[in-house]
This record gives sequence, C-alpha cells and structure tokens, in this order.
Amino acid sequence: MKVLVVGSGGREHALAWKLAQSPLLEKLYCAPGNAGTARLGMNVDIKAEDMTSLLQFAEREGVDLTVVGPEAPLVAGLADLFEEAGLKVFGPGREGARMEGSKAFAKRLMLEEGIPTGRAEIFEDHGEALGYLRSVGAPVVVKADGLAAGKGVTVAADLREAEAALAACMLEGRFGAAGEVVLIEEYLEGQEASLLTLVDGEDILPLAPAQDYKRIGDGDSGPNTGGMGSYSPVPALDDGSYRRVVEEILRPTARALAKRGIRFRGVLYAGIILTEEGPKVLEFNVRFGDPETQAVLPRLRSDLLQAMLAVCSGELSSLRLEWSEQPCVTVVMASGGYPGDYRKGLPVRGLEVAEEVPGVTVFHAGTAVGPGGEVLTAGGRVLNVTALGDDFLQARQRAYEAARLIGFEDVYYRSDIALRVIGESAS
Ligand code: GLY
Repeated sequence: MKVLVVGSGGREHALAWKLAQSPLLEKLYCAPGNAGTARLGMNVDIKAEDMTSLLQFAEREGVDLTVVGPEAPLVAGLADLFEEAGLKVFGPGREGARMEGSKAFAKRLMLEEGIPTGRAEIFEDHGEALGYLRSVGAPVVVKADGLAAGKGVTVAADLREAEAALAACMLEGRFGAAGEVVLIEEYLEGQEASLLTLVDGEDILPLAPAQDYKRIGDGDSGPNTGGMGSYSPVPALDDGSYRRVVEEILRPTARALAKRGIRFRGVLYAGIILTEEGPKVLEFNVRFGDPETQAVLPRLRSDLLQAMLAVCSGELSSLRLEWSEQPCVTVVMASGGYPGDYRKGLPVRGLEVAEEVPGVTVFHAGTAVGPGGEVLTAGGRVLNVTALGDDFLQARQRAYEAARLIGFEDVYYRSDIALRVIGESAS
C-alpha cells in the first residue's frame, strides 16, 4: 500500500514512523517532510497548502491513502478534493474541519447539544463585544473565530488585556478574516488534557490521552508556542473523568456531526479542562495534536495504518487498539529565540548517540537535509526527543539524557516537562 503523509513537523514524523511499522505499507511519501521523514520514505517537495500539486502527485503515483497532518489543508478542503477524485484520505472534509476552523461553529454545536464547555457569546460587532466584555469583567478568554496560527486565543487576566485582544481582532485586523468574529468565553480553571479519538463517521475509538506544554518557559511562563513538550498517559485524568470525556464529549460530538450530515472521517481532538464541575471542552481540533502525537504513538502497539483504513471505510466498530503500559515523555528542542526570531541552517550533532539511549526515539520537526547529507535546523521547533520508560521518572530521565547528547547552536528546551507528574523531587 502506498501512503502519503502531508506536513513537515514532529507530528508528521511520528505518524510516518508509526505507519512505516505496518506490514501493509509498501511505499511511504511525505510532502514536504523533514530530515527525519527522509529516512523513512521519500520526501516530495510539495507544500501542505498546495492542494492541486498534492492531488496530481497522489494520482500520478497511485497513492492508496493520504494522511493529512496539519489543519490548514483540511479547513481549505483537501479531503473533499481528494475524495471527489476517488482517492482515500484520512482527515475530515471542509464541513467537519469547521470544528477547528471556526470556533463559533464548534461552540454553537456544543451549546446546542449540551456538550460541557465554558459559557460564551459570539460577536460580529466590536461595540457589542466591548459592552459584553465590560459587563462580565476579567479573567476572561477572547478568541478569534478562525485559524490564527495558534495566536488567536487570549486568556486575559484583566480587562485592559481583554480589550486589547478584542481590538487586535476586530479593529486592527491582526488575524484578517479569522478575527472578524470573536468569542468571549468564560475563564475556566483546572488541569488540561488532550483526548483524541478516531472517528469513522459514526463510531469512535479513543486514543490514549496526553498533556502538552504550550508556553516557552519553565513553570508555564512566557509566550505561547506550538508546544514545548508532552506526556502520555495523563494521571490527572482518572478513569471516571476519562469515561465522562468519552461519553459526554467525544461520542455526542461525533453523533452531532453525523446528525448534521457531516461525514467526519479522521481524528477529532478535544482539548479538555478538568474543572470542579467535571471535564469541559476548551477547543476542538480536527487532526493529531503536536507534540501530543509524539508521546501517544510510541505507546500504540496496534497497526496505525490498519486503524486509519478502518476509519476511511467506516469499520471502526470492529477494531480494538492495544496500548503499552509504559508512559512516554517528549521534550521539544527549539532554536534559541523561538517563538520570536531564530536562526536556521545550523548543523545538528549527536542524533545517533542520543537514539542509543534505551527507549528513545528522536522525531524531527524543523530539520532539513544539508548538501552533504547532514541534518540542519530549519524551524523554531527542531526536534522532539521522546522516551518510553517503566515509569514517568525513567521516561523523563531518558528523554533528558538523550536531549543532552544532542547539540546545535542556541539550542533551548524546557527543563520541567512531565515534572508535575512525578513531583518536584525528581528534577
Ligand atoms: N498541542 C496543541 C495542538 O496540537 O493544537
């Protein structure tokens, strides 16, 4: 079977790595991929947004399954385009992708279906939004409706910050059309978890939960990033809460989509907050999480390709997934300066020796193959150093031991990934 993975980050390397373990796989392509995916299959120089070239490539090469990593091509309708051409694709069409592409759409669906989530009002007019904001006060959350490269959500501690976020969206046009509609949402407190489920249009099959770290600095300080680390499973999500997420959130959401005539085939990602009133949805995404995937897939014993094919053919109900009991920890190694300006093209050393640490896999994110075949930095988040262990303490120690063996100029990584799970004494 020929499989094309669309995207170029750590998530896509982890997907490619897991798909490459399938006995069903004959040939793997990644578009555009990175230096890590180049070791597993053939990188194809087509960007994830270039839908026409992706379709032409898939048709020409006889690709049997296309797996879409990032959200933007899904929101833009890549899955619809492929399906219209008779090609199999893992990922929802444009309508289903609105669960991530429009926060207002997702919020309305949740409110209509009684799916637990924070209270919110949706505005198209700045004056009305401002009046409402002042009536509810802070802390409060201001969200741009559309895709804003992870920068469209402001958790405002005071009204000044909330008003600035609102103005950025609705007056200054910082996010273009994505900020023309704004949600003003209740601030919720609690620990967060990401629970993803496969959806075949009707049935769901949840994956192991994970937790990510969004901020750049230790202790969750500094600006938001694309994710600085993750771990799986999530001890804070006990069996009772897990069941509630599945039965009160994931299953009803999949049903609600089907009820609206939306055939959602792919992965639905619920960003959950564990409040005193129970688990509530912070947001939905319509693709694998990054860097959650890098901590979840090493724990999956089953064949991911077979599971994806079951999603595409609507046969999830007959499938079970086997998981390793071992926890997994992923530390993101970034370029100094990220999420602001950073340098690219710096040689990366020590990858082979790092991968000799037991339980360790190094997923590439922002890397490229240099002219002499060497690995060079090519993005803000460069590598995801991932380790399985008998417990969180061992997984964490292995991930950091491997990270210390890797070097590139200006390297930066958080030192507290998964620390909260094992207590401060293990640092
Ligand atoms: N880790 C957050 C995300 O994938 O959106």
